[in-house]
Amino acid sequence: MEKKKLLLDCDPGHDDAIAMMLAAGHPKIDLLGITVVSGNQTLKKTGKNALHLCEYLKIDVPVCLGSPRPIVRDVEICPRIHGESGLDGVTFPPPKRSVDPRHAVDFIIETLLHSDEKVTCVTTGPMTNLALAMRLEPKITDHIHEVIVMGGSYANGNVTPAAEFNIYEDPEAADIVFRSDVPVTMVGLDVTRQVMALPDIVKRMDSIQNKASELFVKLMKVFNENQRKVFGLPGGPLHDPVTIAYLIDPSVLTVEFVHCSIDLSHNQSYGRTNCDMYDYQHKEKNTYIATGIDVDKFWDLIEDGLSRYDDL
Ligand code: RIB
Ligand code: CA
Repeated sequence: MEKKKLLLDCDPGHDDAIAMMLAAGHPKIDLLGITVVSGNQTLKKTGKNALHLCEYLKIDVPVCLGSPRPIVRDVEICPRIHGESGLDGVTFPPPKRSVDPRHAVDFIIETLLHSDEKVTCVTTGPMTNLALAMRLEPKITDHIHEVIVMGGSYANGNVTPAAEFNIYEDPEAADIVFRSDVPVTMVGLDVTRQVMALPDIVKRMDSIQNKASELFVKLMKVFNENQRKVFGLPGGPLHDPVTIAYLIDPSVLTVEFVHCSIDLSHNQSYGRTNCDMYDYQHKEKNTYIATGIDVDKFWDLIEDGLSRYDDL
């Protein structure tokens, strides 16, 4: 089976954790490394969470810390959803391994330039690290197969009426990536809100009865409670793993190729992904926007992913 080379940039984060689990365990994916950014919590906490998760799930890839803040705007973390630790609901013993000494931006550049095949870059947090890498070494765009972004929406936001958190947290970074000449697939709230970890889903995953499913259940308990408190949702939308599910099986999503631009005006729409779904402006199309999701197929992929950790 031909493996897809993957660099995962994330801000764990409850749903990032499930994305990491899915990516690291699937035989179709060659996970080259995990880079971390501030977002759901401070970089110190998201970095610690990534290390803990790699140790717990026995994911043996470099974990590199990246930017502690967005390129232009001030950092704005999200404890109301992910808690004080950024991964409330689980505790781990002190990690035995350390983060890789290389900065995430350097690691992204080095890994891409030295890869013998093009690499897929998935971002499930603010896009600061990838954007900085593109600015520091523009040649890396020739080594990227595609960027799959969890972020944005062509409808409503989740941090302002207009903007989704990952984009809103660093709109300038998103603008750099979306305007690069690399194919971008945007997995936005429009589809991720359709995969909520409802009680029957949690029960289904709990029945797997291994350490990965145990982690899933503990994470979803807190994630679901906070999503209920903040958004009144019956379950937490598993935003980030949709990117990995799409990498594993593209048929899980329906996508449309449109023009998408990031609103950088410092007004109420700052950070919005303006997706020209009806081609009003006749601008050059640049982004594959996820418009539909096969919910059953997604949960089958999550169940399959968790089941691959029986020998932990
Ligand atoms: O808006 C949802 C996104 O913001 C997810 O990636 C979640 O982890 C947070 O980073
Ligand atoms: Ca995230």
